[in-house]
Amino acid sequence: MRVIAVVNQKGGVGKTTSVVNIASKLAMLGKKVLVIDLDPQGNLSISLGIPSHELEFTVYEVLKEVVTIEEAVFKKDKFHVLPANIDLSGAEVELSGAAGREFLLREALEKLDKDVYDYVLIDCSPSLGILTLNALVACREVFIPLQAEYLAMQGINQLINTISIVKSRLNKKIEITGIIVTMYDKRKNLHKEVVERIKEHFEDKVFKTYINSTVALAEAPSFGKDIFEYKADSIGAEDYESLVKEIIKMPQPE
Ligand SMILES: Nc1ncnc2c1ncn2[C@@H]1O[C@H](COP(=O)(O)OP(=O)(O)OP(=O)(O)O)[C@@H](O)[C@H]1O
Ligand SMILES: [Mg+2]
Repeated sequence: MRVIAVVNQKGGVGKTTSVVNIASKLAMLGKKVLVIDLDPQGNLSISLGIPSHELEFTVYEVLKEVVTIEEAVFKKDKFHVLPANIDLSGAEVELSGAAGREFLLREALEKLDKDVYDYVLIDCSPSLGILTLNALVACREVFIPLQAEYLAMQGINQLINTISIVKSRLNKKIEITGIIVTMYDKRKNLHKEVVERIKEHFEDKVFKTYINSTVALAEAPSFGKDIFEYKADSIGAEDYESLVKEIIKMPQPE
């Protein structure tokens, strides 16, 4: 089971869009996938058309150990979703004093049967608070989406720092394994320059597929659809398909 946290404390860089569409394509290629919405905004759940405000259980009850992941998952046609809603915003405060508060998600994942999922993708909120720490402790791999804009790398040192602290104290196995360039426009020289800077910094960790800026990717969530359901012949669908093929082929750490 590959557990991948999709993290960047900068907002609006394409974390949720990437989780939705990577999960969908992985599932279309026959992989068993769970996505976890770890953002109190609940954008992932909303994008997937899940009525998370009406659900009895969400990731919040899982972190509070009221229910297991199995009991809380919402089963979509293609993959499973552990949804979130605004209740999760209380978790930051409630959990901040709890012993072992960074390990709650990892422990919940450890209770899953070994072979239920091939991939678990965790959509993080734009913060480095206790929820994101739970994702970093639970995962093996970190994917960082970076928007091809001037300030893309701002704050990245803080993120890398946090990951190295997690690695030394809480999760020895964590590695940044993928940088996803998002909202790319090849006509813009600035975007090319930004990508060059990203590649200087992260070298071969940068996926070869860049996700182009395209309106269909922004429209799809309002229909509760992923890009493959919304516009299967679009650039966005092509990009995420190509990215997923890279993800599947990545060599796996021991
Ligand atoms: N490749 C793209 N082209 C055009 N629009 C995009 C693209 N990717 C994402 N968007 C849009 O940009 C906005 C931000 O994307 P998204 O919600 O995926 O970012 P995020 O990092 O999850 O944000 P947050 O930090 O708030 O959770 C959304 O409106 C989304 O539909
Ligand atoms: Mg998001």
